[in-house]
Amino acid sequence: MKVLFVCLGNICRSPLAEAIFKAKAQKMGLSNTLFADSCGTANYHIGDSPDPRTFKNAQSNGVEIVHRGRQFSKRDLTDFDWIFAMDKGNLEIILSYTQSEAERSKVKLIRDFDPVKRGNVPDPYYGTEDDFQEVFQILDRTIDNLLVSLTK
Ligand code: 4NP
Repeated sequence: MKVLFVCLGNICRSPLAEAIFKAKAQKMGLSNTLFADSCGTANYHIGDSPDPRTFKNAQSNGVEIVHRGRQFSKRDLTDFDWIFAMDKGNLEIILSYTQSEAERSKVKLIRDFDPVKRGNVPDPYYGTEDDFQEVFQILDRTIDNLLVSLTK
């Protein structure tokens, strides 16, 4: 199963989601069956490493993060089984590329799986270290729940 996490720049939220997902899949012994990647809807950070604050946050939470920025492409709608958008703006952008109900049904808002609160994963780019940690906590519990759904 192939899952894709999508945000705007692909340097803060989605590469962290990808890294958390991979770490959890590995702990569950599922790294050979669950493939994860991330990308951004914008082209600002193609080829870039994750934001240094994302790196620092991941490291402080014991998660290894290895990624280079890439932009979402229409092909992702056929290449991936599930596409999880970090917020409604990016969800709408991804949906605007879909051409069938089969494609549309793959695209979800990631916090639909948050056991605490629905909505957007807040963009931490103009925020503080605490905002990055809030993103980590949201993604950590949401991806736990997501993995339960995906492996049912
Ligand atoms: P991300 O955060 O979408 O979580 O990667 C952002 C990264 C970069 C920018 C905006 C949001 N930017 O405007 O460059």
